[in-house]
Amino acid sequence: MSLAGQMIAFTPAQLDEVRRLQALYPDPRAALLPVLQLAQEAFDFISPDVEQYVAGLFDLSPAHVHEVVTFYSLFFTKPVGRHVVSVCRTLSCHLLGAPDVVAYLKERLGIEAGATTKDGKVTFFTVECLCACEMAPMMQVNDRYEGHLTREKIDRILERLE
Ligand code: FES
Repeated sequence: MSLAGQMIAFTPAQLDEVRRLQALYPDPRAALLPVLQLAQEAFDFISPDVEQYVAGLFDLSPAHVHEVVTFYSLFFTKPVGRHVVSVCRTLSCHLLGAPDVVAYLKERLGIEAGATTKDGKVTFFTVECLCACEMAPMMQVNDRYEGHLTREKIDRILERLE
């Protein structure tokens, strides 16, 4: 399998990590999420070829892996920018201003949700509850949660991104 000419295969060290993760659980399939995370780090995003490769490591169908990948917003099915901004749109955040956050990000970034800026800097998504409702309205910027968002705070956050 290949991804734009890139061979889809873990390195021996990554395969060792897959086996280690699988051995942690009575049912090795319980390691699917961390292995998908490893795959995303290795291949940048989870393409159908990556799904098929990972499915083979677990003796699962590619359709099963696809269902998992598309259920969780932490997995990307297409290339993303250097920074990923995910705005929660679920109830608590919605009631406390998520629609304004989304509208302001669209204006500031010049893109719709799900798109990447032309310079490849930022990909912006809307997602379901990120389990930080007490920070509403909030968003995830890469691996960091940012809450109690205002336009001024969003400006400061975007200015930090390189
Ligand atoms: Fe937004 Fe839960 S509703 S984090």
